[in-house]
Amino acid sequence: MKKMVAILAGDGIGPEIMEASRPLLAVVARGQGHDIICQEGRVGFAAYDVHGDVMPEETWELCCRSDAILFGAVGLPQRDNELTPDMRPERRALLPLRRKFGLAVNIRPVRVFPGLEKLSPLKERVLAGGVNLTFFRELTGGDYFGEKYLDRAGEWAEDVCRYTREQIEAIARAAFRMARETGEPVTSIDKANVLGATGTYWRSVVQALHDVEFPEVKLEHVYVDAFNLYLMTQPTRFRIVLCSNAHGDILSDGAAGLAGSMGLLASASINPESGYAMYEPAGGSAPDIAGLGIANPVAMVLSIAMFFRHSLRDNVAANAIEWATTIALQKYRTKDIATEDSARIVNTKEMVQAIMDCITFSP
Ligand code: IPM
Ligand code: MN
Repeated sequence: MKKMVAILAGDGIGPEIMEASRPLLAVVARGQGHDIICQEGRVGFAAYDVHGDVMPEETWELCCRSDAILFGAVGLPQRDNELTPDMRPERRALLPLRRKFGLAVNIRPVRVFPGLEKLSPLKERVLAGGVNLTFFRELTGGDYFGEKYLDRAGEWAEDVCRYTREQIEAIARAAFRMARETGEPVTSIDKANVLGATGTYWRSVVQALHDVEFPEVKLEHVYVDAFNLYLMTQPTRFRIVLCSNAHGDILSDGAAGLAGSMGLLASASINPESGYAMYEPAGGSAPDIAGLGIANPVAMVLSIAMFFRHSLRDNVAANAIEWATTIALQKYRTKDIATEDSARIVNTKEMVQAIMDCITFSP
């Protein structure tokens, strides 16, 4: 398959994890007979320093010419005060990218890798049986994108949280489809006991879609506050987690925390109609270790695996990368995920190389 990919490495550790991971992308693509054409663009402070804008016109044009975006990271907290809130990368690049390309389906898998249980702040008995969560977060609706009102006198503020049937069905359908493929249960998150409009409505739309299109999938509804507790007390009980934009934002960071590192959290944001997609490590720009060559590339590598799975529909490549990562992590780790055992501490490039060395394709 032929695909145009916009490479937006961005700020902080973005450029180094991207550069280290590109050989893996190239090798797997070649091995599987895909024709991937990569073109680089600037975003974040890397763009601001050249164009005076964190998301310049030429980067928009590159994205429009592409089928997918591989994204590194944006944002440098120590430089945030150079920009007004509206001109910062979150509001000027990330959210507009999601809106423009209709990236409504955000998939964030959270796993506790074998051998890395010690990274988790949770006790081993709570993790026994394995943590394997996949968040399906709605990414283009809710209070993130609703109307915003600020009283001029400074006495009140309002972010409207609106969800349409179509939006809820789109994310729910994506979650149910995966559930049908894997046989895993779906847990839908809401606050239906209090939020009579968006909470109760969310629950009824999810249930109705389930009953009509996916009756064979096991579905459970859980209140968001209770789910947050269960993430800490019984994280192995859940598999596919379906949630709104704001709930998914909060819960997926919490889940990454229970896995022990943001450096392992990959993500895919997909337009379910056009197939346009953006892949990015969800761990942020980590400016404190940028430029040292020690950043953890695993989230970037796993995001590339998701690119193969969702943009190229190549599960063989995706599974091979994910499996190789699991194996490599037993022997090699970057400094941020070092634990007291015999695993060797390696730098960013060596970690990617270790993963590449473990890749085998099943025929
Ligand atoms: C995320 C981030 C973003 C979000 C910010 C940076 C806009 O936290 O992808 O989870 O809130 O969605
Ligand atoms: Mn977030």
